[in-house]
Amino acid sequence: MAASPAQSDVKVPDHVPSDLVFRLGHIVGPEFLSDPYEFYPSLHEKYPPLFYDADTMVGGTWVTIKHADALKALRSSDFTIQNGSIFPRDPEDFFPLIPVEFDPPEHRKYRNILDPMLSPKAVLELSNDIRALANELIDEFIDKGECEFTTDFARPLPVSVFLNLMGLPLDMRDTFVRWVVSLISFAERDKAVQIMAEIREYLSSVIEEKRANPDNGAISRIVHGTVDGEPLGEQEVYGFVFFLFIAGIDTVYAAMNNIWVWLARNPERRREMIAEPENIDSQLEELLRYYGVTFSGRTLVRDLEMNGVQMKAGDRFMCILPACNYDPDVYENPREVDFHRPRKPILTFTGGVHACMGGHLARLEIKIALQEWLRRIPEFDLKPGTQISYLPSGVIGPASVPLVW
Ligand code: HEM
Repeated sequence: MAASPAQSDVKVPDHVPSDLVFRLGHIVGPEFLSDPYEFYPSLHEKYPPLFYDADTMVGGTWVTIKHADALKALRSSDFTIQNGSIFPRDPEDFFPLIPVEFDPPEHRKYRNILDPMLSPKAVLELSNDIRALANELIDEFIDKGECEFTTDFARPLPVSVFLNLMGLPLDMRDTFVRWVVSLISFAERDKAVQIMAEIREYLSSVIEEKRANPDNGAISRIVHGTVDGEPLGEQEVYGFVFFLFIAGIDTVYAAMNNIWVWLARNPERRREMIAEPENIDSQLEELLRYYGVTFSGRTLVRDLEMNGVQMKAGDRFMCILPACNYDPDVYENPREVDFHRPRKPILTFTGGVHACMGGHLARLEIKIALQEWLRRIPEFDLKPGTQISYLPSGVIGPASVPLVW
């Protein structure tokens, strides 16, 4: 059934036709929270390809759910990533989130500092360490016959990989887990200032240490990196390191939480995966298509027509990537998990210049996690009585995943 255009408290610009104004309830609405992965595919049945979301939560933005339109926008210089700040900061102590808050051509200069470290070839060298970390975590709970997947596996794994990549000691794992959880939790907003101060103090001291004693880790490369022949300023170094921290951890564990709930609920399909280990890359890509976890927000820099709709410079524009991954014009039977689907680019890691820098690493982490888990715990289920629930967050995944075997 088609959704009806809606009234809203948000000031909708005059050039937006009233029949294209909706209140989507993305992230906060009851339909979304009851099951985001039912909500996203259903958007294609209920909404026009491009419309205006006037929900107070998002404050008014154009929305696309179409794969081709999202790619067009993400690759176009008609859109800027600036003014779409995704993380609140103290204006007295402002640091830019690098590279994600820069447009070309500056953007590329910052990316060049770290891209070689995150190339497919470079991340492959981390395979043995990731495999060992995954097995150490499984060792801790396998004999108990149960675990809380998020706390026992999905969070500590990417945190450990992150510490390794950055050149930080592994004994900081639990502290980093605590920091990530507090930063993303809406419920702990009042603690955010204190947590930000703790993170700042720790990372600043590490940055100074790497300045004096360079190594091969990402922090050292950033500290000693240059843009146009000049070293990065103090706030830039911090903003780059801090952004990696917020970009590279909760995304991975949200994706893993989603995937493991699916594995627990679909024993036959799980056995199909185990029976075709050589198809693991396609299996993973399909599960990542199904479970996009975040979005790309932009702002128009000039007036533009798309799909017969006239947008204006200064309008906000949101690519709902998880919905684009269910676009029926691109994926046949999009609601089906099909491990033999013809390869089409998925938008989980977005596209264009800001395509995720950690996409190869994230895929490798989740692939190794799948291989080791399915080898050691091939049969498992959700703990009886479990209700999977989702909290409002910019990174989507179940809050808790209790498993038994
Ligand atoms: C499943 C896991 C992950 C997902 C779904 C994901 C998704 C994304 C998305 C959608 C963007 C684009 C944001 C935008 O357009 O506004 C992005 C950017 C980025 N991600 Fe990831 N990410 C993941 C893992 C990682 C990891 C492990 C790292 C770091 C090691 C990382 C580092 C980055 C960086 C640095 C950017 C900014 C790139 C740029 O602005 O050029 N991500 N990611």
